[in-house]
Amino acid sequence: MKFFIDTANLAEIKEAYDLGVLDGVTTNPSLMAKEGISGDAAVKAHYKAICDIVDANVSAEVIATDFEGMIREGKELAKIDDKIVVKIPMIKDGVKALKYFSSEGIRTNCTLVFSAGQALLAAKAGASYVSPFIGRLDDIAYDGLELIEQIVHIYHTYAYETEVLAASVRHTMHLIKCAEIGADVVTCPLKVITGLLGHPLTDKGLEQFLADHAKVNKK
Ligand code: E4P
Repeated sequence: MKFFIDTANLAEIKEAYDLGVLDGVTTNPSLMAKEGISGDAAVKAHYKAICDIVDANVSAEVIATDFEGMIREGKELAKIDDKIVVKIPMIKDGVKALKYFSSEGIRTNCTLVFSAGQALLAAKAGASYVSPFIGRLDDIAYDGLELIEQIVHIYHTYAYETEVLAASVRHTMHLIKCAEIGADVVTCPLKVITGLLGHPLTDKGLEQFLADHAKVNKK
């Protein structure tokens, strides 16, 4: 399973990349705003800065919601760097845009997916990735992981090439369950990735190993 980091924060992206387990980056307009990035030139420069940190793909989201606007913006974003994947919302014009970019060989990530029907549309339109949002479904008492399972099953049944990119991942158990289910990718905050590290028995074991070593290696 691939690990993407879901942030526009350069320090966090670098930390995750330096760990050696990062396969990509996803951003969205809210994450860009959180970093205080505004204006076309600054947004493009920030995407370029992210691309320069990682040797991995970087999802950059269009703001337009009409077909022509999404095509114009998507092409501009794709020009920034070969690593850019154009992120398109799951709306009617978005489906048309996914089909257009797919025929042009530009990779896409279909975002804001909350149902199996939407995921089917994204796959049929040739999206490279589909992003079902687990946490936001859980927030309103729907089972986000069940949706991932459903989409993985449908895509396998019909051998769709679209990769299932589990998004809105809030904690380590979301990530582990996605791995069990067979999601292709999980995108999550840095704390979810580093949260996989800790175990009290690891700490206790290491402490004991070092203490035993020190006992017989006194200076
Ligand atoms: C990913 O592409 C999404 O932008 C992201 O995972 C949304 O997560 P959130 O629901 O925690 O904002």
